[in-house]
Amino acid sequence: MSELELFYADAPADIALADVDLSRLPRHISMIMDGNGRWATSRGLDRSKGHVAGIDALRDAITASVRLGIDVLSAYAFSTENWKRSKVEVDLLMKLFAKTLVAELPLFYQENVRLEILGDLSDLPKKTRETFEYGISETSGHTGMVLALAVNYGSRREIVRATRELAGLVAQGELDIEAIDEESISSHLYTADLPDPDLLIRTSGELRLSNYLLWQIAYSEIYVSQLLWPDFDRWELLRAIRAYQARDRRFGGVKA
Ligand code: IPE
Ligand code: IPE
Ligand code: MG
Repeated sequence: MSELELFYADAPADIALADVDLSRLPRHISMIMDGNGRWATSRGLDRSKGHVAGIDALRDAITASVRLGIDVLSAYAFSTENWKRSKVEVDLLMKLFAKTLVAELPLFYQENVRLEILGDLSDLPKKTRETFEYGISETSGHTGMVLALAVNYGSRREIVRATRELAGLVAQGELDIEAIDEESISSHLYTADLPDPDLLIRTSGELRLSNYLLWQIAYSEIYVSQLLWPDFDRWELLRAIRAYQARDRRFGGVKA
């Protein structure tokens, strides 16, 4: 048995590794990890417990993606709008990010995963920011999967930032207005070095994008999972990939 087959042993009734075509996997899978709070409150627990439980789900998704050979896994961890939450919840999340990253660094080494952050780290508490910066530099030489965590990320803010950078280049005479194209805009987004997501997963049944990767998901296939994020696991990831592989991606063309 291969490592992958072992990892995907003990299949539930409705899905198995054999249900996906390993030669046609999405290159970039992106996840809106939603439903931590509801997971906790439905159990009579504090919302914070949902965020803690969500870490296990992310670890399983990372390990599964590495085993499958996915190039890029991205995940929405904190939006520019999430600052509206109570100070208690925001503080907890910031502490949890730092603590989890330190605790999980061995996984990044073991799995050769390179960490990228999408978003503006400068607004984060110093310790959280420095921990992310440490994680980025420690894993910068890793050549396996890229884990791109969206932290203090907002798609509109990202587009504003790119627009300002391009306008600055034009103002300095370093860029012609005519030279601004889809590629140059893409190259000024946080995702500059990443392919666009092929598959976007949102958990907790919510049918919205919540300011996530608006430019990059122009042609992503969307899979809405009814599971709350802490219940997400390697099997739900396989179900999402199976659904993705059943789609007919036409990119505006017609089926051959
Ligand atoms: C997602 O879960 C995690 C973050 C946004 C940080 P939520 O905290 O949004 O959980 P719900 O949507 O309230 O259940
Ligand atoms: C999106 O979830 C942000 C993250 C998962 C980090 P939210 O829970 O913040 O989104 P809304 O408020 O339901 O749109
Ligand atoms: Mg939510």
